[in-house]
Amino acid sequence: MYRGIIQHKTYLTPYLKNEIGTRSLSNPLNGGRIYRILPAGAKPVTVKLSDNPADWIQALGHPNGAIRDIAQQLVVDAQRTDIVPQLRALLQQQGSIGQVHALWALEGLHALASADVLPLLDTTNAALCRQALAVLPSVMNPAFAKQVKDKIAAAAVAKETAPSVAYILPFFAKYDPSGAKAILTSIWQRYPNDKVIADAVISNVADKEQQLLTAITTWNTDTNLVVRRRLEKVLVDISNHRKARLDEALIKEYPRGNLLFKTICQTCHGADGDGIQSLAPPLNHSELVTGKKERLIAIVLYGLTGPVQVNGKLYKSPKSTAICRALPATMSSPMAISPSCSALSATPGAIKPKRLRKAMSRPFARSTRAVRSRLPWRS
Ligand code: HEC
Repeated sequence: MYRGIIQHKTYLTPYLKNEIGTRSLSNPLNGGRIYRILPAGAKPVTVKLSDNPADWIQALGHPNGAIRDIAQQLVVDAQRTDIVPQLRALLQQQGSIGQVHALWALEGLHALASADVLPLLDTTNAALCRQALAVLPSVMNPAFAKQVKDKIAAAAVAKETAPSVAYILPFFAKYDPSGAKAILTSIWQRYPNDKVIADAVISNVADKEQQLLTAITTWNTDTNLVVRRRLEKVLVDISNHRKARLDEALIKEYPRGNLLFKTICQTCHGADGDGIQSLAPPLNHSELVTGKKERLIAIVLYGLTGPVQVNGKLYKSPKSTAICRALPATMSSPMAISPSCSALSATPGAIKPKRLRKAMSRPFARSTRAVRSRLPWRS
């Protein structure tokens, strides 16, 4: 940045202040905001593009990529379909950097034909082949899919073009699902340890990640294959995302329950309900949670004294008295009902159904008060 000063005072650290001072970065005042960076000794020349499409065609082969991009943009924005023949001619100029821009300019004019693309897939120029693969979805149709299949399969062999093949395979799969699957398999079996290729492959299997994992593990039991590890991570991400979405929906539906859980239960049972070692058993998949509703309500309202069996594991809470005594001081929340499951002496079995019914029929706050008045440290 030309002044070395970011407008916000907060970012002016002592280090930056010093840099600004010693390098006089506060001096240049009207040089724009960002310095233009040039190679040492370079003499920049201003390029002006006229309104003449002939100039644009010329500029599509300019050594400066930014100029080429602008020329391409001008062609597409102006929708000058009258220059399609010149663009085709440029596309056929082997070895010209303009080939790629002619390709995408034709695509942007909706004038690209499958015949334009086909020869480019034979090229030994991997960069051009990648562009030709990338543009395939624009020209794909049932007849062309048959024609281009072998070329796609051939491009899937080279490491430089395999990822591009994997990325466009879903468009080919629309017309030839089994052919696409065979090519995809050939890619991950040939390059099971390449990160980029692995991600390109995985991008093909939306909602079928598990099937791909099964195919990989059946093919090779090595747990360290890059493609396997990345796929497993994707599966974990998916499951976390689903869980988060479910949680969000639940929080919306039960805001008070959420608050209650966060302020009381989470301390012992963990934020995710998986329990905390030597503090409290998990709630997830616990028979006591998924089982009879009345019993669960009784635990929340009146507490529970262990030991309890959860998910086939016995939980004893030897420190339960300590937990219990520690609680009142921290119990400032008016939502508090049953601060510790082990803190209360009543076991669910001891709850009289009539009493439970009565407590439950009261509005939330009142029943809370009623229960709290029965807490041992209150009486
Ligand atoms: C101070 C720690 C503590 C707090 C806070 C706490 N529990 Fe518990 N909870 C336990 C312990 C310990 C057990 C196991 C019984 C025992 O050992 O006394 C348990 C058992 C349970 C059980 C039955 C066993 C299981 O895991 O399914 C349920 C259900 C339960 N708690 C729900 C809750 C809910 C709901 C809250 C919040 C309102 C809560 N607990 C707050 C410590 C706590």
